[in-house]
Amino acid sequence: MFLHGTSTVNNDGHLEIGGADTISLAKKYGTPLYIYDVALIRERARGFTEAFQKAGVKAQVAYASKAFSSIAMFQLAHEEGLSLDVVSGGELYTAIQAGFPASKIHFHGNNKSAEELEMALQHQIGCIVVDNFHEISLLKLLGKQLNKKVPVLLRVTPGVEAHTHDYITTGQEDSKFGFDLQNGQIEQAIKQVLDAGTFDFLGIHCHIGSQIFDAAGFVLAAEKIFQKIGEWREQFQYVPTVVNLGGGFGIRYTEEDEPLPPAHYVEKMIETIQAKAAELEIELPEIWIEPGRSLVGDAGTTLYTAGSQKEVPNIRQYLAVDGGMSDNIRPALYQAKYEAVLANKMAEKADKTFSIAGKCCESGDMLLWDVLLPEAAAGDTLAVFCTGAYGYSMANNYNRIPRPAVLFVEEGEEQLVVRRETFEDLVSLDLPLKYKVSHKS
Ligand code: LLP
Repeated sequence: MFLHGTSTVNNDGHLEIGGADTISLAKKYGTPLYIYDVALIRERARGFTEAFQKAGVKAQVAYASKAFSSIAMFQLAHEEGLSLDVVSGGELYTAIQAGFPASKIHFHGNNKSAEELEMALQHQIGCIVVDNFHEISLLKLLGKQLNKKVPVLLRVTPGVEAHTHDYITTGQEDSKFGFDLQNGQIEQAIKQVLDAGTFDFLGIHCHIGSQIFDAAGFVLAAEKIFQKIGEWREQFQYVPTVVNLGGGFGIRYTEEDEPLPPAHYVEKMIETIQAKAAELEIELPEIWIEPGRSLVGDAGTTLYTAGSQKEVPNIRQYLAVDGGMSDNIRPALYQAKYEAVLANKMAEKADKTFSIAGKCCESGDMLLWDVLLPEAAAGDTLAVFCTGAYGYSMANNYNRIPRPAVLFVEEGEEQLVVRRETFEDLVSLDLPLKYKVSHKS
């Protein structure tokens, strides 16, 4: 069993996170419950920021807030000196409510509406990562209307698609995001942005994938971009001052995963970009990155209460918990794998195989298959590790199950940062039928 961050086992045989007894937290706040180990989030953030500082390179580490968005999380990101990547009006609104400095917010998305863009410009956010020609037109208009120079990066698809240990390179990438780097699209976009005179064209962005365990894909993407930078200098007399290589740094969900320390990726990126900038004899651009999962993923644990069991003789022992795909859709959606323990029986031998079922009315609502646990009974507390990224943020109300509460724990103290949804919350958006239905007898 692998315990992440500050997790330990206390004298009662209970799982402790951030110095807090998870069984006491489950009793006090109910389950399902998301618990974040704040010290681990800080450690991960510093892993990235300090690697840039050490190298003396100008950089921004933007937290990809889609991994887990909440006011407290954004405030923690700010405390750690991070910038913020948002992808919707809702995430932007949350950031503004959190008091996050607008100048450090980057706005992503492949179909930002005119309203969302206007909101971003009104707040004077740091930059808009422009994804397509439609967006260039919208921003040209808005820039003129608001009499503002719009700070932008242009997002490219570099023809490098990375996932775990592999990457594939293609001449042209079949992706809904960004301007193709190879087929002339990006040059068309650069021309439009330069000609408009309404943009502050900061540089180039790319994002090559997620759960990546190797720096090679990032290096290759950077090389491809720099090859183009040489051409753009000739063609447009333009040289980017920012190169953003996106996020995607892998984390350890199960023992099969072998993540690299944040500093490793950062060092490889810096090495490559320094060498390429020197080759072209241009000033070193600022290097921006956007980690999401690697900042919050392994800091998150979900607690559930065990309930019913079903034995399918000679096949499987199902153990059902009080949540499921409503609080973590990743197993159902991506066949994502996790590790789990019985948080109240940490001292007992894990020698029985269970498959953990959610409570939603859907056969696909399974959280874990064939996990070793001690003998389990109703009332036990199941802890699923590494649920901090894309867990709560993708939670939903399927079967009208209220979304869980979220706690931050640090140095033995817990803080409720998202309260549990109530049944009243669930019906609060509903409006009654306008006309009385006439029933035929
Ligand atoms: N930047 C861009 C432009 C992105 O699209 C993403 C993730 C990130 C940064 C952050 O990537 P990360 O460091 O978190 O891997 N729901 C899926 C993940 C979707 C990722 C979408 N984009 C999951 O649960 O695995």
